Amino acid sequence: MVKERRKSIPLSTRVDKKTKEIILKIAEKEDKYPSTVVSEAIERHLERMGWRIPVENIQFGSTQHYAIIAPTEHGKTVLVKEYVIPLFQGKKRILVVDKHQEYPFDSLPVEMYDTLSAGSSETLRLTENLMLKPKIDEMCKSIIDTLKNKNENIAIHPAIPDIGVQNIFFTEFFKRLCMIRWNPKLLMIVEEAQYYDCRSLISVARHYNIQTFLISTQPLDTTVMDNCKLILGPVSPFGLMMHNVDDIGVSAVGALEQFEFLWEKQKAMWRKMHFIPSWQRKT
Ligand SMILES: Nc1ncnc2c1ncn2[C@@H]1O[C@H](COP(=O)(O)OP(=O)(O)OP(=O)(O)O)[C@@H](O)[C@H]1O
Ligand SMILES: [Mg+2]
Repeated sequence: MVKERRKSIPLSTRVDKKTKEIILKIAEKEDKYPSTVVSEAIERHLERMGWRIPVENIQFGSTQHYAIIAPTEHGKTVLVKEYVIPLFQGKKRILVVDKHQEYPFDSLPVEMYDTLSAGSSETLRLTENLMLKPKIDEMCKSIIDTLKNKNENIAIHPAIPDIGVQNIFFTEFFKRLCMIRWNPKLLMIVEEAQYYDCRSLISVARHYNIQTFLISTQPLDTTVMDNCKLILGPVSPFGLMMHNVDDIGVSAVGALEQFEFLWEKQKAMWRKMHFIPSWQRKT
C-alpha cells in the first residue's frame, strides 16, 4: 500500500541575501532569534490585513474618551462597573447618567413629567416645551451646584418621559458642564448615549478635566465616534461603515460573540477581549 503523503507547509522559506542580512541585523539589535524576527513580521502583516486580531485586555487611558457600542444584554454596563469604575474610583469623581438606576452612587433625580408628548399638536408642543427653558435652566444650575459642593460619586436618574425634552435637557446640561474646570477631575459615564447629543462632552471636555465614557446600543454621531476610542460588540456593520470605521474593524465586529469586545488600541489597530465578570473568575 502506498503511504499517503502528508500535505505540509514548508517551515523554511528561502529569502534573498539582502533580506537575510536585514533579519540578522534586527535579530542582533533586538537580541532575538532570527526566526522570531520573521514570525513577528508575519504576525504584524496578518494583523494589518485583519486576518488575525490579537487578544488583549483593554488598557484604558486617563484622558481619552471612549464609546462602548454593543447590542443590548452584551455586557456594556458590567464592563463599565467591573473594569472602568474600579480603575478610576478615588482618582476622579464619577458622574453617571443612569437611566435604569444600575449604579450604586448617590442618587440625583431629574424629573420633568409635565411635558407634552409627540402625539400632541406640534405647535402646542413646541410652545409648551419652550416654557420649559426656565425649568431646564434651574435644574442644570442645581445639579452643577450639587456637584461643586459634594465630593461623592453621583448617579443622575432622569425621569423625563418625552425623549425630545430629555435630549434638550442633557444637551444643555453637558454644555454647561464643559464650562467649568473640574477639580477633582470628572469621569462622565453616559448610559444610553444614543438618546443625547454628546458632542460637547467629547469636543471640549478634555480642557475642563472631563473624561467621557459613552455607552450605546447604536453607532453615535460621526464627530463623536471620530474623537473617541471605540469598544465594539457585534453591532450592525452598516452603521459602522457609515461612521468611518475601517474595513478591518467592520469585518472583525461581524465575527464577535456575546460578551466579546473589539477595541481600538491605536487608530486602526484592533484588539479583541472577552471580558470575564468577577462572579465567573476563579479566585
Ligand atoms: N462578560 C460576561 N459574561 C457573562 N455574563 C455577563 C457578562 N457581562 C454581562 N453579563 C450578564 O449579561 C446580562 C446583561 O449585561 P449588561 O447589563 O452589562 O448588558 P448591557 O449591554 O449593558 O445591556 P443594556 O443595553 O440592556 O443596558 C447581565 O445579566 C449580566 O450579568
Ligand atoms: Mg446596560
